[in-house]
Amino acid sequence: MRVEEILRKSELNREDLVYLMKIGSEEELEALYKKAYEVKEENVGKKVYYRGLIEFSNICVKDCNYCGIRKSNKNTEHFMMTKEEIMESAKWIYENNYGSLVLQAGERQDKEFVDFVEEVVREIKEMSQGKLGITLSLGEQSRETYERWYKAGAHRYLLRIETSNEEIYKSLHPEDRSHNFDTRIECLGYLREAGYQVGTGVMIGLPGQREEDLVDDILFYKENDIDMIGMGPYIIHDETPMGEAYKDRVLPKEKRVELGLKMIAIARIYLKDVNIAATTALQGLDPLGREKGLKAGANILMPVTTAAEHRAKYQLYNDKPCIDDTAEQCKKCLAGRVGSVGDEIAYGEWGDSPHYFKRSEE
Ligand code: 5AD
Repeated sequence: MRVEEILRKSELNREDLVYLMKIGSEEELEALYKKAYEVKEENVGKKVYYRGLIEFSNICVKDCNYCGIRKSNKNTEHFMMTKEEIMESAKWIYENNYGSLVLQAGERQDKEFVDFVEEVVREIKEMSQGKLGITLSLGEQSRETYERWYKAGAHRYLLRIETSNEEIYKSLHPEDRSHNFDTRIECLGYLREAGYQVGTGVMIGLPGQREEDLVDDILFYKENDIDMIGMGPYIIHDETPMGEAYKDRVLPKEKRVELGLKMIAIARIYLKDVNIAATTALQGLDPLGREKGLKAGANILMPVTTAAEHRAKYQLYNDKPCIDDTAEQCKKCLAGRVGSVGDEIAYGEWGDSPHYFKRSEE
């Protein structure tokens, strides 16, 4: 089998990666996932790290054509958690020994928001005596803002590139200055310079996206020396321009899940020591999506810990899973899922990407 031949090579080139991205038989896919799991075991171990996810606001200044909380979606019931509510979730995450949390929200650059985040980060650090790792996922910001939040105590940042293909990127966004591909790239640079461990990722199965584009996304991660990857299938949201345009034309669910798993596996094999998340979007399309993600090489899970009353309002796409679950239920459910794969949950550890430390030592 050509796949096995490729998987035995010590260095893969673009052509090899494209070949792997296009395989489709059960047997070939099994061989790919098995290899990816081995590479995971060797480089990051069989430990799964948790990042408790707090989605604290759905107010967004952006108008991305795919996203349910875009500015122009007038059906969104807006919410912004208070500092006390965020701290309550953060305490739960700390007391349940998750090790790290992620603060995510719609994008805002106004002073009130920037100050608010800075304060919240500082308080979480204090509350946990510096023990809780803090990741931010708050979109494009100025260099100064990134620096301020870093100084306050955040040490990782997620900013997806969405797709490394500039043409596709343009088709996903309105044509104005605030949705610029180069700005996104520039922000990834600012984050690195500010000292963060930098995470990025893409959506998979986008209209017009070919296997070659997905391979180029993985090469983009490599070229930009990315530490953490969060990527998942594109899922329609009805109340968006893309949802309306592609309702009946998007790749079948199974195909998008398969592509998502192939992306995880090939990224693991090619990049080896980075952190890769099995994302909620994977589970949105397949009830066993996250387990399959771990089997294909992912080592990070992001359990949603947002309070039940707000969960349903943070709908980036249709049928987001687990919106009725409490944080307690999520914890139990995930422990069972991780165990079923044969992995172990690393409670109470930050679980930084080994890739980051190797670079820091150089
Ligand atoms: N399908 C899948 N992922 C989406 N995101 C936003 N909308 C969708 C969607 N419809 C992802 C984007 C964004 C992250 C916060 O959520 O990649 O960066």
